[in-house]
Amino acid sequence: MKNFFAFFILLLLPISGFSAGGSSVELQDMKPDLHDKASLQRGLSLFSNYCLGCHDAGYARFERAANDLGIPADLFTENLLPAGNKIGDLMSNAMSSADAKAWFGAEPPDLTLVARVRGSDWVYSYLQAFYEDKSRPWGVNNTVFPNVGMPNVLEGLQGVRHVTCAQAPAYDKDHKPLFDTLTGDALTEERCNVVVQKTEGQLTEAQFERVAYDLTNFLVYMGEPSRLKSEALGLKVLLFIVLFGVFAYLLNKEYWREIDH
Ligand code: HEC
Repeated sequence: MKNFFAFFILLLLPISGFSAGGSSVELQDMKPDLHDKASLQRGLSLFSNYCLGCHDAGYARFERAANDLGIPADLFTENLLPAGNKIGDLMSNAMSSADAKAWFGAEPPDLTLVARVRGSDWVYSYLQAFYEDKSRPWGVNNTVFPNVGMPNVLEGLQGVRHVTCAQAPAYDKDHKPLFDTLTGDALTEERCNVVVQKTEGQLTEAQFERVAYDLTNFLVYMGEPSRLKSEALGLKVLLFIVLFGVFAYLLNKEYWREIDH
């Protein structure tokens, strides 16, 4: 029995490892709320305006998202549908992979499932983690995804952040200082975490966090569009089982009444 439990715990391990994304920076906490329709609607609008130009969400359709999030089809078509698309289309763009590789060094990945693969904390932190780095082709780098090929498309909203890097004493896992084994000198390592807002964006920090939250919330919805429906259905099924249980109990009592006495 013990082995059996150990086996199940082992099965869970790769999942938690995966969502950490292999990065050593601390991620910010993000709790998705799929009942917050207003947040999901803002997320869809941001996604359509700022992300779809490069990224596909090729397993999702505009129409399904509009329906699920309660946006009337005509309003959606007028305001949110990127030019050249029909509402029944899959969310994809016309950028060829060869062009994308030449421009960004890496193809912008499909984002339909990104929140499931990376985890919502990762996506939420990543969107806020861009900082100025003149040595990179787009002039920006990212603490969550070092040397990323994506420009900071939300820079106008967020403003330019400056992260200063400094040499600091290096520690091992147990927080003991590390020394060079040959010379005995204390070892140092570069740490980049002192954030300074260099130029203001259109939004305050709290408003920008909201933008990152809404986008991530929408990406979580997109990774599992049936979750809201299954939750609602699950509740009905449970109610049915309870009601059915009551009737089954009463019926059972009725059957045995004459036999018992
Ligand atoms: C100008 C093109 C462009 C735009 C616009 C853009 N991205 Fe990206 N994005 C990229 C590229 C290129 C990569 C791949 C970077 C790499 O692998 O180095 C990427 C990577 C990502 C990743 C990491 C995916 C992974 O798992 O590796 C996420 C998440 C992401 N983008 C989200 C967004 C969101 C959300 C938006 C809209 C706010 C957006 N992107 C807008 C080009 C873009």
